[in-house]
Amino acid sequence: RTVYVNGQYVPESEASISVFDRGFLFADGIYEVTAVLNGRLMDFEGHVARLHRSLNELNMHLTLNDNALRDIHRQLIEKNDLQEGLVYLQVTRGVADRDFAYPDASTPVTLVAFTQQKAIIDSPLAERGLRVISLPDMRWGRRDIKTVQLLYPSMAKMEAKKRGADDAWLVESGLVTEASSSNAWIVDHDNTLITRELSRSLLHGITRRAVMQLARQHDMKVEERGFTIKEAQNAREAFVTSATSLVYPVISIDQRSVGDGTPGDIAKALRRLYIEAGL
Ligand code: PDD
Repeated sequence: RTVYVNGQYVPESEASISVFDRGFLFADGIYEVTAVLNGRLMDFEGHVARLHRSLNELNMHLTLNDNALRDIHRQLIEKNDLQEGLVYLQVTRGVADRDFAYPDASTPVTLVAFTQQKAIIDSPLAERGLRVISLPDMRWGRRDIKTVQLLYPSMAKMEAKKRGADDAWLVESGLVTEASSSNAWIVDHDNTLITRELSRSLLHGITRRAVMQLARQHDMKVEERGFTIKEAQNAREAFVTSATSLVYPVISIDQRSVGDGTPGDIAKALRRLYIEAGL
């Protein structure tokens, strides 16, 4: 694979980052994941807009403009002959002596990007649907910033796997915030789509926004509010959205089937619509 590191395209075996990089020492960095379908980026503008938001919230400064960022993505897709998968982009606060305080603002950020090949359209999980468990949301309080500090989501994912499930839905004060790396949705018995309102408690998903728009364009009702695990278990359907899954149906929650325990029609339809929009 050819990867991008600080202005250069190099074979992955030649790419290197300092031991003193703040991304490594403090998880002081942010990232974006953009899906690639048919060699084309999905919702790139949305991902770049959120990247800027994360940078601003953390007082990090990127000198590259949006065209340069797009060019990096396109070049990586081309150099790696990527048809389907994703582009990962990470920006950290750069290299400095270990100190909790941020280094001088003139310290150059570290920017890396790489591609990952992945079946998106013919994803087996989209066919089968996800089994999820619920876990307490023990992440930090600024989940709206897309930081590389992902240890709790990893722990949650491992706990789900240990219990024979695919993923975890995270619960805070009785309400689902989101899944370990995607936004959580349910469909009630009036076919209204429900997903939690935006706040600092969850990531403002780009796929969430796109799917919400598509749903409204197709005259589906969308309500933004929190819901409990019990409401989700009793819903007609459940699903998640993210750049890596697009839309994955959820077929069970804490071992209780959702609907008839097979992928729901609305989730499947939204998945199809989103893929068509990206092709
Ligand atoms: N995760 N919520 C969380 C906690 C996430 O990590 C993600 C994305 C989402 C969905 O956001 P979007 O639709 O913009 O991808 C929601 C990425 C894909 C990841 O970490 O791999």
